[in-house]
Amino acid sequence: MKVLITGGAGFIGSHLTERMLREGRQVTVLDDLSTGWIENLRGAFDYPGFEFVEGSVLDAATVGRLVAQSDIVVHLAAAVGVRYVLDHPLATILTNVDGTHIVLAACGKTGKKALVASTSEVYGKNPSDSLCETADSILGASSLSRWSYATSKKLDEFLALAYAKTHGLPVVVTRFFNIVGPRQASRYGMVLPNFIRAALKDEPIRVFGDGCQTRNFTYVSDCIDALVGLLRSPQAEGEIVNIGSPHEISILNLAEKVKSIVGSSSQIVKVPYELAYPEGGFEDMRRRVPCICKISRLIGWSPTTSLDDMIARTIGPARHQPPLPAGLFSTEGVPYAEGR
Ligand SMILES: NC(=O)c1ccc[n+]([C@@H]2O[C@H](COP(=O)([O-])OP(=O)(O)OC[C@H]3O[C@@H](n4cnc5c(N)ncnc54)[C@H](O)[C@@H]3O)[C@@H](O)[C@H]2O)c1
Repeated sequence: MKVLITGGAGFIGSHLTERMLREGRQVTVLDDLSTGWIENLRGAFDYPGFEFVEGSVLDAATVGRLVAQSDIVVHLAAAVGVRYVLDHPLATILTNVDGTHIVLAACGKTGKKALVASTSEVYGKNPSDSLCETADSILGASSLSRWSYATSKKLDEFLALAYAKTHGLPVVVTRFFNIVGPRQASRYGMVLPNFIRAALKDEPIRVFGDGCQTRNFTYVSDCIDALVGLLRSPQAEGEIVNIGSPHEISILNLAEKVKSIVGSSSQIVKVPYELAYPEGGFEDMRRRVPCICKISRLIGWSPTTSLDDMIARTIGPARHQPPLPAGLFSTEGVPYAEGR
């Protein structure tokens, strides 16, 4: 079984690559290394069935060739992270919409099964206690460019379902809710790696807004279990499926937990959104809680890793991470928001 993983040098993609290789599959990763690291694939190069192709999902010829050589395709490549989306508004839309279309078109041509990564961001500001996959998207104004990420991913979902209907393409769409773990980059606005980075250096942990906004975190290995299960499930084809944890925590409590588990002397500082995003384009949502009845029904999945364990397992490798290149940020990281 040959698997093509786009975005496989990124956080989720590199963990999926390792799992697939360990299970005896051949894996090709296509990644342009825009937010991913070749270092994330260090372990993968030990396997003879592994191939890395540096290139873009926007290159239809390369995508067509790699899809033709594969049995299934996992499409994770995307422009991600609040900071990245605000800084690269056009590239975000083109990568997420054109890139997904190119991948789906190649799968459609060759009848290859595809899994397309989407996001809880498509629920926008819907504050429901339990967001099921048919819940409404409540998105903000187009003048706020943070919503371009959700909108582009929502269009990806429509494209995937349209390919399924029009070409009979076996496709699964997954909506991730704040997946965390080792290798998640802190550079583009992800909350947990930023809190851990600050705590390890005894620097201020910056909580945006009042800190009462809540998020739901899922450990990456639980997420990989879900992806592997969904890829094996014929019942999941043609479906959109939440992957997340129903357990909610406020961002302020998360900061306190990280500080305590690291044993840090960091101060926890509240930063108004206007200071965190002086260029504008951002607004927050108070909560986003997944319903996981569907994935539980389809493959019997529910997350098993506690938040304390997620934090502890992420801290270890983070202690050894190289410092960020100078000049990458005007501010000291952006310690909040899944932003997706
Ligand atoms: N981590 C989460 O909590 C989360 C939440 C919701 C959705 N997602 C989705 O999951 C997927 C993986 O996200 P991640 O957290 O691993 O982020 P990531 O940034 O670590 O991974 C994305 C990868 O895609 C690559 N990429 C970007 N543009 C590309 C292009 N044009 N061609 C080829 N490669 C390209 C990047 O270099 C990177 O390696 C994305 O589709 C993202 O939207 C993740």
